[in-house]
Amino acid sequence: MSTGKYWLGQSAWSATRLRLQHELTKTNFNNRLLDPAIALQKENLTIADVATGTGAWCLDFHEKHPDNTIEGLDVNLNEVPPKKWLPGNVSFHYLDLLKEVPEEFVGRYDIVHMQYAVLFVRDREVEGLLGTLMRMLKPGGYLQWGEAHPLQYIFHAAEGKEKAPAARRLHDLQSQIHPSAVENWTYLDNMPARFQAAGFQDVVFVQPEPKPSTLQPIMMNWLWALEEGFEGVVGRFPEKREVLEVSRRLREGEVMREVRELGVGLDMRMRRCIGRKPLATE
Ligand SMILES: C[S@@+](CC[C@H](N)C(=O)[O-])C[C@H]1O[C@@H](n2cnc3c(N)ncnc32)[C@H](O)[C@@H]1O
Repeated sequence: MSTGKYWLGQSAWSATRLRLQHELTKTNFNNRLLDPAIALQKENLTIADVATGTGAWCLDFHEKHPDNTIEGLDVNLNEVPPKKWLPGNVSFHYLDLLKEVPEEFVGRYDIVHMQYAVLFVRDREVEGLLGTLMRMLKPGGYLQWGEAHPLQYIFHAAEGKEKAPAARRLHDLQSQIHPSAVENWTYLDNMPARFQAAGFQDVVFVQPEPKPSTLQPIMMNWLWALEEGFEGVVGRFPEKREVLEVSRRLREGEVMREVRELGVGLDMRMRRCIGRKPLATE
């Protein structure tokens, strides 16, 4: 069952897909969970991973830095690992980022991390969302927000970029299926300006070239997400059934043939933006 505007599946398979996506994302950022611009190197920090999904980022971070307190926050806690697997300083809690932030989360965190929120964040929500994330931070705390750009995907084939016509056609069809999203993702092109407008300082933007080893698995991850989301999207937009069917046939036929024969891979145009909450004295 999907929650609110988020329509991808919520199952052990979807948790596995998100874990794979997390690993591939990390690879593209030189295996860094946090950008080196985040100057808080001491332990005993309190860190939030918002829209945490499976909680993979929290547990991965804990395995590398076990002396911090890590809280994964989401509107759906069905995908996080069972409580008895969790270390004592990792926990998961309900938080709806699009509503007023409850008092217990205000000024609580040294670092707030968020990754892949694009499916539920439209342009008009960004200002309020950045305000919420700012409120959650302690003075001097850091926000790191990572996204891909679903409208700027680049398909690589073994012979070079943009040589995968069926994959590109499938991508174009996705924009017809979600036209409202297309109108509402301009913030992805100007994240630093949006951070600055929200009052963040020391803003850093990073957009790495993808590592070749990630291209094909990221392509398969995308196709898997489309398959996973198919029923949910049909349920939500019944009038789009026809275009969805065309897209399904293309995905299962021509696109898979291109993947097999041309070695098609996907560059999702991953990016991270980092900003710091001003110190109270500034
Ligand atoms: C694509 S998943 C990303 C999960 C995780 N950050 C990752 O990188 O694997 C998006 C997550 O956003 C959550 N979400 C959707 N709407 C939300 C909201 N209003 N507040 C908080 N989380 C939300 C979903 O439940 C889902 O877990």
